[in-house]
Amino acid sequence: MAASNRVLVFDTTLRDGEQSPGVHLSMAQKLEIGRALVDLGVDIIEAGFPISSPGDFESVNTLAKELKGVTICGLTRARAKDIDVAAEALAPAERRRIHTGLGVSDNHLEFKLRMTREQALQTGVEAVQHARRYTDDVEYFMEDSGRADLDYVCQVVEAIIEAGATTINVPDTTGYTYPNEYYHLINTLIERVPNSDRAVFSCHCHNDLGMATANTLAGVMAGARQVEVTVNGIGERAGNTALEEVVMALHIRKDKFGCETGIDTRKLLPASRLVSRLTGMVVQRNKAVVGANAYAHSSGIHQDGVLKERTTYEIIDPHLVGAEKSEIILTARSGRHGLKHRLMELGFAFPDERFEEIYEAFLRVADTKQEVCEEDLRELVSAR
Ligand code: KIV
Ligand code: ZN
Repeated sequence: MAASNRVLVFDTTLRDGEQSPGVHLSMAQKLEIGRALVDLGVDIIEAGFPISSPGDFESVNTLAKELKGVTICGLTRARAKDIDVAAEALAPAERRRIHTGLGVSDNHLEFKLRMTREQALQTGVEAVQHARRYTDDVEYFMEDSGRADLDYVCQVVEAIIEAGATTINVPDTTGYTYPNEYYHLINTLIERVPNSDRAVFSCHCHNDLGMATANTLAGVMAGARQVEVTVNGIGERAGNTALEEVVMALHIRKDKFGCETGIDTRKLLPASRLVSRLTGMVVQRNKAVVGANAYAHSSGIHQDGVLKERTTYEIIDPHLVGAEKSEIILTARSGRHGLKHRLMELGFAFPDERFEEIYEAFLRVADTKQEVCEEDLRELVSAR
């Protein structure tokens, strides 16, 4: 497949994201999130793991029936029965993908699968051939690729593509790799495997060392053209790669990546809020792109800069992600420019002498609290 500049967004909020400890979504909630994902413009929705429970089967099946204009994907182990059940759940979909696979690291082969490399390879090939009986859109995941022997991973990729897989998922399941290592992994697979041009390579990174977004972007830089992400980065343990971070990095740094996605970025914040509300997973205030503080400025130096020209301290226009505007937060670190701006927003303007009095009083109040709010400002201007 010729390297295009279009990066496919594979959203796994409803599968890997729902595996977050403490998260459980009802069918109605999954459908609400599924609709928001379609609206956002994701290319593929991984809706669940159909054989894992009747509830997961129903979720995949319902989303397959209800959602149009998107590929619906179901996860399976590399077993015929799993694949049959996934195919049944996916049957009503306009476009369907079966996502099957097996571990490739010696750790997983020895301790979890209790298989030799050869047995695992053969099992994977048979699973892909079986899945191809139901759809020509088959993705293969090589679990724990990040810790696997690269020569063996190359061998697996070649055989799996030969068997009919059209997307090759290269998961850093344990969040072990660093960006240069993940780049090397993807780059080697694309360069060394003879039939690599017949598949799309996909990044699936976990965040155990806080590297998920960086690793995913390194994978794109190396030629991967699918990213597996979740809204707000929710997922097993420390989570998955955050959809909003990768999308905005590709957008803001188009000069570097030269790639685009089909995401309507203005829907990012609404989607983030929806997923946070329905899953109960609170978004940290300083979270990149969608955190409450992401477009808020509190120090005097920054406020002065942003008020003169937004781009002095903001690389993302908040409107671009669906936020209303940049915010000037008044604290003890704020200066005259920030205070004057906030007072003007409330409809107040004062001669210099009076403003200085208010500023002195403001600093005294600011020293006693985390943030000077609108009510405090009204009190300050009415006091004599
Ligand atoms: O992290 C992982 O390896 C996975 C696979 C099941 C795709 O989630
Ligand atoms: Zn995962």
